Amino acid sequence: MKRQLIELLQKKPAKFISGEELSQKLGISRVSVWKHIKKLQELSYQIESGSKGYKLLNSPDSLYPWEFGEKEELIHYFREVDSTMTEAKRLARRGCPPFTVVVAERQTKGRGRLRRTWFSDEGGLFFTLVLRPNIPATMMSRYTFAASLCLTLIIQRELGIEARVKWPNDILVNDKKICGMLAEMEMESDMVSFLNIGIGLNVNNNPTIEEPNSASLCSLTGKKLSRKKLLISFLDQMKLLLSQPDLNRIIPEWKQHTITLNKTVKVVTNSEEWEGFAVDIDESGALVLKQADDSLKRVYFGDCFHQA
Ligand code: BTN
Repeated sequence: MKRQLIELLQKKPAKFISGEELSQKLGISRVSVWKHIKKLQELSYQIESGSKGYKLLNSPDSLYPWEFGEKEELIHYFREVDSTMTEAKRLARRGCPPFTVVVAERQTKGRGRLRRTWFSDEGGLFFTLVLRPNIPATMMSRYTFAASLCLTLIIQRELGIEARVKWPNDILVNDKKICGMLAEMEMESDMVSFLNIGIGLNVNNNPTIEEPNSASLCSLTGKKLSRKKLLISFLDQMKLLLSQPDLNRIIPEWKQHTITLNKTVKVVTNSEEWEGFAVDIDESGALVLKQADDSLKRVYFGDCFHQA
């Protein structure tokens, strides 16, 4: 009901629609219309009500499910959650459909890679996408690379920002991190039963207090951005990219947008450290390093530091 009501109000922005018209179009009483309007006002929609009816003045930068049109059923919205990864895992284990999204305004225990904390203050876009690719685990990186590629292209094309990917899946602008990704999966009979990709994108938040080497899209563009539009673009682009018959093209395209290759890098995990010249990213997503003794070393995960 909220979705239909919002759609009707959005069709005539800043114009009054009578309670009578809304009640007829929605098939509910005028009192019910009024009650729904009141609820929307409580959720920060600016709706003027008067003798001529109702007028939508402004919508909040909201991620409510009814804002996502036909995707509504797939969106699980939380004002606050410990981590969208935990919720998404619960849903995936219960059999939720692919392209289910868990999104939260705030996370109290946001998780980063290598067991770090991901600070998740209001204004950022924090979500986990559930995928169910019918693949062996070795092919998983195509999907995480697809996610960072899609977001990078959206930021480049829709916002005109020179975003680049840093191996394995960070998105950077002028060496400042604007987005991080975390993947979790479960297997069944050697095949992936679900792959959850968690994305933390700095949009209208200020991440620099906790992470000095970070930036947000809002600070880069100088204006507040719609998180809903970014999420919809991302979901649409991901669907399109993953529906292609040849997923082998994802990593080569990703390489066109990376700043990691042809540089001396150090990759650090919780227990190991590797240094070398980054010569390639192979078809499994591993970073190929040429070491001091000219031998090639494939690194599968870790934090990558570009050396001066
Ligand atoms: C990293 O760069 O360390 C990865 C950060 C991933 C953060 C996102 S925010 C949404 C999802 N929920 C989490 O708890 N983590 C991921």
